[in-house]
Amino acid sequence: MTIKKVVTISTLLCFVFLLSNFTEDNPYFKIGERDVTFQLPKGFPVPNYTFKNNKPTPAGFTLGRMLFYDPILSKDSTTSCASCHQRIAAFAHIDHPLSHGINGLIGKRNVPALQNLAWGQSFMWDGGVNNLEVQPLSPMTNPIEMNSDLGEVLKKLKHSDYYRTAFKEAYGDTLISSERMLKAITQFTGMMVSSNSRYDKFMRHEDTLSQFEFNGLIVFREKCAKCHREPLFTDESFKSSGLMPDTLLNDPGRELITGRYKDENTYKVPSLRNVAMTYPYMHDGRFRSLEQVLDHYAAGKFYTLNISPELLEARNLSDVEKKEIIAFLKTLTDKEFLYDRRFADPTYR
Ligand code: HEC
Ligand code: HEC
Repeated sequence: MTIKKVVTISTLLCFVFLLSNFTEDNPYFKIGERDVTFQLPKGFPVPNYTFKNNKPTPAGFTLGRMLFYDPILSKDSTTSCASCHQRIAAFAHIDHPLSHGINGLIGKRNVPALQNLAWGQSFMWDGGVNNLEVQPLSPMTNPIEMNSDLGEVLKKLKHSDYYRTAFKEAYGDTLISSERMLKAITQFTGMMVSSNSRYDKFMRHEDTLSQFEFNGLIVFREKCAKCHREPLFTDESFKSSGLMPDTLLNDPGRELITGRYKDENTYKVPSLRNVAMTYPYMHDGRFRSLEQVLDHYAAGKFYTLNISPELLEARNLSDVEKKEIIAFLKTLTDKEFLYDRRFADPTYR
């Protein structure tokens, strides 16, 4: 064989290999039994959502994943859950302070990361939703997010050959109901577990932290962990982080839900897992970097309405402590979760 032949044949083989990756049966996207077994990570508390009435199955999860990535859930079929919740940003929206929805409309809040939702006791920055299964109704029907209504969505799904088959595979018959749709999405979102960052491995004695990162963990535990409690890095409470309210957005925070003045300007304490990937930060995305967030806490010039004693303890950080905390926060990046093939976009086939 001449060199030329070898080159031609190997190019052809490469081509065939590449093509085979885009077929229906690409193993990369295939979900098996093991993929849908919910495992309680070592050291984590018992989850709030137990999948008791919604046992994940490969077909149910696959359906949920497709729905998550499919713009069919929005009124004009332009916006999917994944348009705002990007996998590489732990399902937050990189670089967008406020969410962008249908017709280019700008929302009022920063898109939060989606991870460890099974442990969530409430959702949204103001805790306005307390059940993971019904949560998708909120973006689907929100006029500036997906602007759809359930009837419309179900009609579109019923007209699709793909979904008639997918619902049948997941549930045994072709009935397409809102309950089934919501449960399938929850099989997908509820399974998003981040528990394999370097911090987790350090806690399990599988990896080490540098001295600098470890110092950060110690300062973090002293100043921040009362609200951002390990191992989920949130205590599920609503607190003020001392930010001056944005008068244009006019967002009252938790007060919107409870109507109580003592909740004004408080927001759900966000998890800090994967926080290096989820910029910009805060409910309105006002800070572009972790440095800016740390400068805010360290300066201690808080807007005082409804602040709690824990916040006052987060002040007085030296420049070195700020850097140590940031180095520690970066150990919360969980590459296994960010690159988990189960959560990849299956519509890329
Ligand atoms: C237009 C952008 C956009 C779209 C589309 C969207 N979301 Fe969201 N999502 C957000 C924003 C913004 C929030 C925070 C809302 C708030 O606090 O009021 C959020 C919050 C959430 C939360 C709560 C997370 C937490 O920890 O509190 C979940 C879960 C979620 N979205 C899932 C979904 C699902 C599932 C879909 C598709 C059915 C979807 N989202 C579509 C922007 C979007
Ligand atoms: C009193 C409770 C409390 C303490 C103490 C606290 N935080 Fe927060 N943190 C919050 C709340 C509440 C938010 C969300 C505030 C908002 O959006 O208005 C937040 C937001 C953040 C964010 C942005 C996360 C995101 O996804 O947008 C980071 C980063 C952060 N805190 C780091 C820290 C660090 C580091 C410390 C210690 C120096 C600390 N926090 C101490 C309650 C607290």
